[in-house]
Amino acid sequence: MPGTILVTGGAGYIGSHTCVRLLERGFEVVVADDLSNSSAAAVDAIARLTGCQPSFEQVDLTDIEALGGVFERHAIEAVIHFAGLKAVGESVAEPLRYYRTNLLSTFNLLDLMARHEVFDLVFSSSATVYGDPEQLPIPEGAATGPTNPYGRTKLMIEDICRDVAAADPRWRISLLRYFNPVGAHPSGDLGEDPRGVPNNLVPFVMQVAVGRRDQLRVFGADWDTPDGSGVRDYIHVLDLAEGHLAALEHIDAGCDVFNLGTGVGASVFDVIKTTENVSGKAVSYEVVDRRPGDIATSLADPSKAIRDLEWRADRSLEVMLADAWRWQSRHPNGFDS
Ligand code: NAD
Ligand code: UD1
Repeated sequence: MPGTILVTGGAGYIGSHTCVRLLERGFEVVVADDLSNSSAAAVDAIARLTGCQPSFEQVDLTDIEALGGVFERHAIEAVIHFAGLKAVGESVAEPLRYYRTNLLSTFNLLDLMARHEVFDLVFSSSATVYGDPEQLPIPEGAATGPTNPYGRTKLMIEDICRDVAAADPRWRISLLRYFNPVGAHPSGDLGEDPRGVPNNLVPFVMQVAVGRRDQLRVFGADWDTPDGSGVRDYIHVLDLAEGHLAALEHIDAGCDVFNLGTGVGASVFDVIKTTENVSGKAVSYEVVDRRPGDIATSLADPSKAIRDLEWRADRSLEVMLADAWRWQSRHPNGFDS
């Protein structure tokens, strides 16, 4: 099976962990990333951890000429498409930038793939396409209804992929809806390095534990959940990375969609307590109002991926947070330290 995989956004958080697993499995990897939300140091870390050097192409996917050059220079056999903008709040403030970047990048990629007769694609979608879910745990057949421009770009790209695959039977596309990716490589030398104030819970909690921020704000303790705080399906980034290899190995004609989650929920207070246990540090917090757009609970039904991809996410919350803490404590300021 190994061949040459183009990993768009491969210098980013999930992409870099997936590159590690691909290289370990014997694939050749070409990373295409404009470094708009990542660092070349991540590519160096991938090479150090695996002893294999991925090819690195610093290109903006919205530039079709530049991306075309990548296809000219490398004999790409399949693509994993992570590149894109992903901050929900920013997408509400700058919708055009989100639609333009995420959609145009994908149009360019699909065009070039067809032109070069590359028809295998794995795409990063998100549980955010379900909006406020009607049922829990959430199966792939549940109603979709994203509540922000970021989520709408994901659903639009899913629909575009379905139409493209329906029009030409050579396409084989796997849409992966991630739940809440957290954690880091167990070496402590590769992890999530958000720019500015983290939007997501785990990076924020880690920065409080390491002393970079004073206090976590818990967005509501009056939700309809066992302890009143929000419940999410956290998944270790390496389990998620392995899900991409499973998707590539089991890729089938047409376009299929899979939830990648654990099916196990954890609350904000569970995350705080477990972080305190694994780090030995106190995590100071205050309960504040709910964050606009938040939901009480998000939980995957991962049974389709378990059955069809022969993949299962089994790393526990303790392992996720212990690995995140190792990365944070060894690199308190991310790749710059
Ligand atoms: P990330 O920001 O760390 O990685 C995305 C990478 O894409 C970055 O390295 C960035 O520099 C690059 N990029 C952005 N725009 C680009 C462009 N126009 N051309 C080339 N490169 C570009 O994000 P991540 O957390 O690793 O997420 C990867 C993918 O998974 C994204 O598509 C995201 O929407 C999706 N996703 C992420 C999460 C999550 O919680 N992290 C959840 C669900 C889905
Ligand atoms: C966010 C995104 C969602 C994306 C998902 C996975 C928003 C509104 N939604 O959702 O589109 O698919 O990440 O990347 O950004 N929390 C706090 N304090 C904080 C941060 C978070 O209490 O400082 C709480 C939240 O209210 C929630 C939980 O922690 O209950 C997890 O939050 P977060 O990590 O932002 O993930 P999601 O809300 O699932």
